[in-house]
Amino acid sequence: MNIAKIEQETWGYTDQGEGEVLLLLHGFPLNRNMWHHQVSYFANSYRVIAPDLRGHGETIVTHGTVTMAEMAADVARLLDFLRIDQPVNLGGLSMGGYVAWEFWNQFPERLKRLLLFDTRAVADTEQVARARQMMASQVVVNGSAMAAESMLPKLIGETTKQTNPQLLETLQQTILGTDPQAIAATQRGMAIRKDMSEELSQIAVPALVVCGEQDVISPPEEMTGIAKALPLGQYVEIAHAGHLAPLEQPKAVNDAMDTFLGNEFSP
Ligand code: MLT
Repeated sequence: MNIAKIEQETWGYTDQGEGEVLLLLHGFPLNRNMWHHQVSYFANSYRVIAPDLRGHGETIVTHGTVTMAEMAADVARLLDFLRIDQPVNLGGLSMGGYVAWEFWNQFPERLKRLLLFDTRAVADTEQVARARQMMASQVVVNGSAMAAESMLPKLIGETTKQTNPQLLETLQQTILGTDPQAIAATQRGMAIRKDMSEELSQIAVPALVVCGEQDVISPPEEMTGIAKALPLGQYVEIAHAGHLAPLEQPKAVNDAMDTFLGNEFSP
């Protein structure tokens, strides 16, 4: 666990291992701990970096609106702070995927490969964006518990709910520990994120698209479409997992990542 001061702002991040960089961006409203299975596995052969994105974990909370573009710029600032200038393997889950798209938009030269876990390329519908704005207003009054209540049922798959109920408890504690202002600011930012559907065909880096077969937030049909639209996309579906496949079925996810990363000319 590392803490950095970057331009007067506090940043929490994990930085383990040596070699080519594997940078992992967590989902909402979680933190870098969601990658613990991947950090311990891949730190044997990569330099694995997992930041807490703005407002989450141990990183500074910003009120108002935090856009996906701002989060991508934050990630680049962290790489600068760590003096990493070679192109990175960038993975993002759900919101982390939205940030990864923005990283490609802003810093294509810093990207070697993309790993997209349980994420979406489309923007929000008006209805979804309105619901996010509503949650943003309510959470600052009522606290993070309401975010936990609305998100938890959808975060993990039905199989994991049966086989690993403890994970729900852990996720609940994580969400309760996330600052309500950060939840609000991030919801507002996600509500105005860019629609990437038309740009997928221009993302010419090797890309692994991973989806839990029971994901109800970014379902397999949608993620298969993303993989097809990416010029070098390859799709892997994870059995018995929902939206948080890397936490629910770490071995299957690590194997898929290993195969993808180990193949220099993938796919
Ligand atoms: C996430 O897991 O990051 C969220 O489901 C993203 C979202 O709310 O769109």
